[in-house]
Amino acid sequence: MHPDSFDPTGNDPPPEQRPNDGSRRTFIKQASGILGLAVAPPFVSQAERLAAYTSKVEGATEMKLKVNGTLRTLRLEPRVTLLDALRENMGLTGSKKGCDQGQCGACTVLVDGRRVNSCLTLAITTQGKDITTIEGLAKGEELHPMQAAFLKHDGFQCGYCTPGQICSAVACVQEGHTKTDAEIREWMSGNLCRCGAYPNIVAAIKEVAGKGGSKS
Ligand code: FES
Ligand code: FES
Repeated sequence: MHPDSFDPTGNDPPPEQRPNDGSRRTFIKQASGILGLAVAPPFVSQAERLAAYTSKVEGATEMKLKVNGTLRTLRLEPRVTLLDALRENMGLTGSKKGCDQGQCGACTVLVDGRRVNSCLTLAITTQGKDITTIEGLAKGEELHPMQAAFLKHDGFQCGYCTPGQICSAVACVQEGHTKTDAEIREWMSGNLCRCGAYPNIVAAIKEVAGKGGSKS
């Protein structure tokens, strides 16, 4: 066997498949062509299975979403994210689209009390669950304690990240992740603030959690 060739089967390739220039590259090219043919059928059948699945769910479908205590019926394609459903279809523009990739937390809402990045959540998967957005936290004119604390402690500057920060902060307190400043920072680390209002956000969360004097 040519010292530069590679034979995964341990057998020499037939003469017509041997590299005519003696180079390793030529043989690998030929070998991958053969390998490609060998693995093609499973990939084709997988594609067919996916196509069959897609054909069942494509097009707009009716879904019922309970948002801020109100059941809303919408006709949306199954690919629509919860964030887009809230902003584009329900007019709830409090939840912000920052990165649209699950990295900034600006779109954070509560689903059954747990924070989720609504830009990464398909609306159709939240049927039957309680969705709470920033618009649902206040009771009429009375602000949620976390909203009031953000105001009191100047927990925002431009305000773009603030709805997501507040929703996340509400869950952070409910989860009990507020024993120290470091713990608050860790459990709020999925919410980015380009203005750097972090110290004031931590102060607001500590106040609501009743941990006003805790230090990390
Ligand atoms: S918009 Fe969802 S995480 Fe950034
Ligand atoms: S207040 Fe501006 S991004 Fe946080």
